[in-house]
Amino acid sequence: MLKGVKISGTGSFLPDRILTNHDLEKMIDTSDEWIKTRTGICERRIADENTATSDLAIEAAKKALKNAHKKPEEVDLIIVATVTPDMIFPSTACFVQRGIGAKHAAAFDISAACSGFIYGLAVGYQFIASGMYDTVLVIGAEVYSRIVDWTDRNTCVLFGDGAGAVVLEPTNKDEGILAIDLETDGNTAELLMVPGGGSRNPICQKTLDHRLNFVKMKGNEVFKFAVNSLVKTTRKVLAKAKLKPEDVDHIVPHQANVRIIDALTKKLKIDPEKAFINIEKYGNTSAASIGIALDELVHSKKLKKGQIIVTNAFGGGLTWGACVIKW
Ligand code: UT7
Repeated sequence: MLKGVKISGTGSFLPDRILTNHDLEKMIDTSDEWIKTRTGICERRIADENTATSDLAIEAAKKALKNAHKKPEEVDLIIVATVTPDMIFPSTACFVQRGIGAKHAAAFDISAACSGFIYGLAVGYQFIASGMYDTVLVIGAEVYSRIVDWTDRNTCVLFGDGAGAVVLEPTNKDEGILAIDLETDGNTAELLMVPGGGSRNPICQKTLDHRLNFVKMKGNEVFKFAVNSLVKTTRKVLAKAKLKPEDVDHIVPHQANVRIIDALTKKLKIDPEKAFINIEKYGNTSAASIGIALDELVHSKKLKKGQIIVTNAFGGGLTWGACVIKW
């Protein structure tokens, strides 16, 4: 029999340095007005040059463990979702394991771009549901500012750095993760990618000259795909959990564009007030966004025991997915 799985603690960490839209006006041909009206973003956090993804992940993980009343030695598995790992290897999760002193934990990364947190939840869920592990840390963490082309106004205004974490544990009560949906369409891979730095286009002068080590995105096409795929996966995951859109108390979407979130709630006929939005402060933090948003929702006191949360995301791959949680 599969075990139930609940979130027993959340944590997040954002670097101190704030880069505002007005700061960006001095760097590239853009305006505060354009960025705000097209995306909802006012400012984003940028890690200092000595900070890597694991540094942010470690801080978020420590807070999540504290909130879950768990010691690092009790952690069985650490999953870090990221597309900005500290290094090609070892995995960022290994640095987190060392950093928090989780000496009994196995550790690995997963790569599903902005859908990484949902994919991480799904993987962590399986390990507990199957009975293999009891305490799993799922962390979404990015220093996206390192892979953004700061001369490309189409992308550089959108992203920010940060980390969000949750602790997963078994439960025998009527609570926790009720359903998960994961989807991928590799045919759309070219819409959003960092083409250089891997085995296809290894780092060399040519790769650097063509700026292949930075994010390339066809924003408009991703936008359309995002709205349709988020609506589809949310309907599917709610049906799996035998729930309807009107049963949802909180939507915690990936924070990519406020217009995408508005279109999603409109199409699903869910009160837009139920959508948690913090994109104005942090921009798109990729795999970190849902973990950060969940942590802020928990601490906002708006979330009550027994309420239904739907969280959903889309990103490079393209990948997308959703998860229903009974708090
Ligand atoms: O987590 C997954 C990551 N990906 C995404 O979230 C992307 C989803 N897509 C989007 O959020 C939107 O498509 C964007 C915010 C990226 C772009 O918004 P848009 O309304 O689709 O604008 P657009 O790409 O159609 O561009 C409209 C105009 C263009 O000028 P022209 O060709 O009409 O003269 C762009 O050059 O806006 C221009 N533009 C800018 N202007 C000022 C593009 N970026 C900027 C900018 N500042 N930063």
